[in-house]
Amino acid sequence: MNDHLETAFSFSNRHKDLMARDAEHVLGWRYEPRVIFERGEGVKLFDVDGNEYYDLSSGMMCLVLGHAHPELVDTIKDMAGRFVHQSSWYTNPWAIELAELIASTLPGDLDVINFAVTGSEANEIAMRMALGATDGFDICSVVRGLHGGSLAAEAVTSVGGARKRGLGPLSIPARSNSIVPAFYYRAPAQDPDEWDRISLQMTDELIEFTTSQEVAALMLEPIAVPGGMIVPSENWMRGIKEIADKWEALLIFDECQLAPSRTGNMWGFQRYDVTPDIVTFGKGMSAGFAICGTATTREIAEASDGKKGLPWAGTYPQDPLSCAVALKQLEIVLRDDITGQAARMGDILEAKLSGLTDRHECIGDVRGAGLYRMLDIVSDRETRVADPAMAELIRREAMAEGLVMIAVKNYMRVCPPLIITEAQIDDVVGRLDRAITKAMSKRTDEIDFSSSGSLAANEKFRQSA
Ligand SMILES: Cc1ncc(COP(=O)(O)O)c(C=O)c1O
Repeated sequence: MNDHLETAFSFSNRHKDLMARDAEHVLGWRYEPRVIFERGEGVKLFDVDGNEYYDLSSGMMCLVLGHAHPELVDTIKDMAGRFVHQSSWYTNPWAIELAELIASTLPGDLDVINFAVTGSEANEIAMRMALGATDGFDICSVVRGLHGGSLAAEAVTSVGGARKRGLGPLSIPARSNSIVPAFYYRAPAQDPDEWDRISLQMTDELIEFTTSQEVAALMLEPIAVPGGMIVPSENWMRGIKEIADKWEALLIFDECQLAPSRTGNMWGFQRYDVTPDIVTFGKGMSAGFAICGTATTREIAEASDGKKGLPWAGTYPQDPLSCAVALKQLEIVLRDDITGQAARMGDILEAKLSGLTDRHECIGDVRGAGLYRMLDIVSDRETRVADPAMAELIRREAMAEGLVMIAVKNYMRVCPPLIITEAQIDDVVGRLDRAITKAMSKRTDEIDFSSSGSLAANEKFRQSA
């Protein structure tokens, strides 16, 4: 337990007891202190002692309309008494309407949807579709990309370190992490245009020399969030599309972290003039329920139908309760122009966070789009050396200031529900400012920053995060 947080919140005996029982009986990723939450309302969370926090991760990046949105609460209540679950050999009106509404927000012919339970599963469906539709062999993913923890999704994930270790043959070999990312902030070439040219050339060569050259798909997040909030240029993204075309590969975009609206566009990829062949969604589109999925064209759906285990079903996809909630959420997102709201508030958040950069040397960079921003915490702005211990220290101080944040390695995410107001952004940034000031006055060498599970920075590789 962190002493100053203990003082800041004076956790009750009940709270401490729950923390201890969680440590004893539940396996999972836990930040310290293990604050136990029992309620959410709008952009706020409340712990079991009634302490109030801003939820700067929107749950697990899912709650675009915040906690306990009244219209979603009504939908949940209505569906709970009406229809929660059904056989996946049958369907329901809400699943059909949700598929139609999602398709209506997508460009091109992306109007067929295979529902899934998790983002990992949605990405596995995408890979199956690509393998089935092309008869290709390799799925080329991007270095620093993340597509989930199920094993095929893990195989195209390139977080490195602990989560890759010891999986052996459970990690499928039919893939390569062969796209060189547009990570300008730590690229060997300082000029972004130059790095675009080099990284695209390297990508093409890696595909030529490390794959079977029978490439089923190039697969990437349009903005790679866990890998460091990497926002590629229009030029780079067009180059990736050209490489996909050259190798006759499909283009898969993983939008789990981005859609809907988070980046100030309905779909993150809409900032680029590139349309994928397959796109996956999860988190934000799910409204916090287990409803994710994969959208593609009828042509690809038909070409892969009956192959590679497609269409995907399982036990829970397209359950009526989760579909009804996701449908209601998307209707509200469109009705209330939540995309425009995210763009407007995102500009304000960006300006205020950039203001913090002037005050705190440890903020190397602020990256992102819309209401998804990331602070890159460094020990030295000149050399840009990553400082995951300081990021973890800031996260803890932020907790004491009433901000629930995700810090993974040296990357601190600012990802509030999209209903956040300007006054709340002001309050959040003020608290963050105080948290960073406090963190900077403390020592980081005793901070254990391994508490965020398999994504956490490894002491050995601290410099390279
Ligand atoms: C970009 C991206 N894709 C896929 C996933 C996996 O989603 P899930 O945890 O629902 O399987 C994640 C999870 O963080 C993600 O960030």
